[in-house]
Amino acid sequence: MESLDYHQAAELLAWQVELGATEAICDAPVNRYEVPASVPKAKAAAKGPQPLKPDPVLLARQAAQAAQTLEELRSAVEGFEPCELRKGARNLVFSDGVPGAPVMIVGEAPGREEDRAGKPFVGRAGQMLDRMLAAIDMGRDRNVYITNVLPWRPPQNRDPKTDEIAMMRPFVLRHIELAKPKLLVLVGNWSCQTLLEKRGIIRLRGTWTEAAGLPCLPMVHPAYLLRNPAFKREAWADLLSLKARLRDG
Ligand code: URA
Repeated sequence: MESLDYHQAAELLAWQVELGATEAICDAPVNRYEVPASVPKAKAAAKGPQPLKPDPVLLARQAAQAAQTLEELRSAVEGFEPCELRKGARNLVFSDGVPGAPVMIVGEAPGREEDRAGKPFVGRAGQMLDRMLAAIDMGRDRNVYITNVLPWRPPQNRDPKTDEIAMMRPFVLRHIELAKPKLLVLVGNWSCQTLLEKRGIIRLRGTWTEAAGLPCLPMVHPAYLLRNPAFKREAWADLLSLKARLRDG
């Protein structure tokens, strides 16, 4: 059998439990007469309550606040163990572009290409994003900084889960504080969900609002534009609005 990654193995196990499996059978038989008896329930109860797991959101807040530079924040995210996604990802995807740039773009999560490269928005959607920025004379090599809500690729590119968003949100907020952009651009529903606590990008897009104490423009995700090219007209209007806002200060 091909080797499985952590998430595939966990999914297979969950599937077997769903089918009713109650015991893992080994390749070799086990002599039950030689296996030591399990701890009786009464004895286990006598051990007293097990310590509660620390709240991952609280841990994330503490780790994020302790970081004083982007480099320190990167290390804090990299070492943040409560987020299980890190186990199935190849690389941390922290950011790309120019730290301190006037515009900071927040996307959703790395896909396969980003996971391989360790950089956000390098696949097809990323190339589309670069073309969109170039159309208003901007780019990640000059005046844009880019990150994602999740810094690790979710298995099979599934949607982020509520608890994953909640535990990574303090890092995104600190990321914004340390990168000090003038404006935020939230691409797609998940960054709006994380920073505005709102969904419905088609309704939200194009209307300036505030997130993390900064002016913020929700826009459709470039992956959406790849699937719905007719929507480029609206995206163009939003890009012009971004350009004008930067020019007018
Ligand atoms: N989509 C995102 O939202 N972020 C990436 O980095 C790549 C694709």
